[in-house]
Amino acid sequence: MAQGNRIVVILGSIREGRMNDRVAAWATGQLRMHGFLPDLLDPADPEILPVQTGDKPAIEHLRQRMGNADGFVIVTPEYNHSAPGPLKTLIDSVKDGWIARPVGLISYGGISGGLRAIEALRPVLAELHAVTLRDTVSFAAPWNRFDETGRITEPTDAKAAETAMTVFSRRLHWWADALNDARTARPFDQEFA
Ligand SMILES: Cc1cc2nc3c(=O)[nH]c(=O)nc-3n(C[C@H](O)[C@H](O)[C@H](O)COP(=O)(O)O)c2cc1C
Repeated sequence: MAQGNRIVVILGSIREGRMNDRVAAWATGQLRMHGFLPDLLDPADPEILPVQTGDKPAIEHLRQRMGNADGFVIVTPEYNHSAPGPLKTLIDSVKDGWIARPVGLISYGGISGGLRAIEALRPVLAELHAVTLRDTVSFAAPWNRFDETGRITEPTDAKAAETAMTVFSRRLHWWADALNDARTARPFDQEFA
């Protein structure tokens, strides 16, 4: 069985002063603890940001960053009951990279914990032949939970998030391995893609 542990972690926010760095720092630390090799992909990275206006070299750079991934984890806030526009554009910019790969979704926001951003992303990713994990990890009001280094300050809160992340990671391992094996056994039929 192929070991699918190369995970590209994609941030959803490009806002200055974003909470995204804290939540993503926590998530990558957790993924490492669960045996993954996370690679952080920041849509605000100067080499990636021009993707937003369709810049071809930036899109090629993005394709290469995504190319070797066994799966993805998107860490995103909720903006107006959906995911941030720049994240949607980044997802739209690459077709092949998503095919038959698992995508885990981690969200944050106000009282909803960003769950509506997750639900908005599912049909988008399905259209790209990606497989979203049913299990998610969500944070309401992350500004009350995370310090600047991405540590969850309250121990009970940290424990609950770690428990959710354990389930999430087990599912992600299963899907990454299963889809790795499937892609090896039988290339994805792109005739109607
Ligand atoms: C334009 C905008 C729209 C937002 N809409 C929602 C919303 O619909 N639901 C919600 O729970 N939080 C909403 N929020 C709160 C954000 O989820 C929260 O500010 C979060 O920290 C933003 O992530 P960021 O700091 O990483 O950019 C919104 C924030 C912004 C900037």
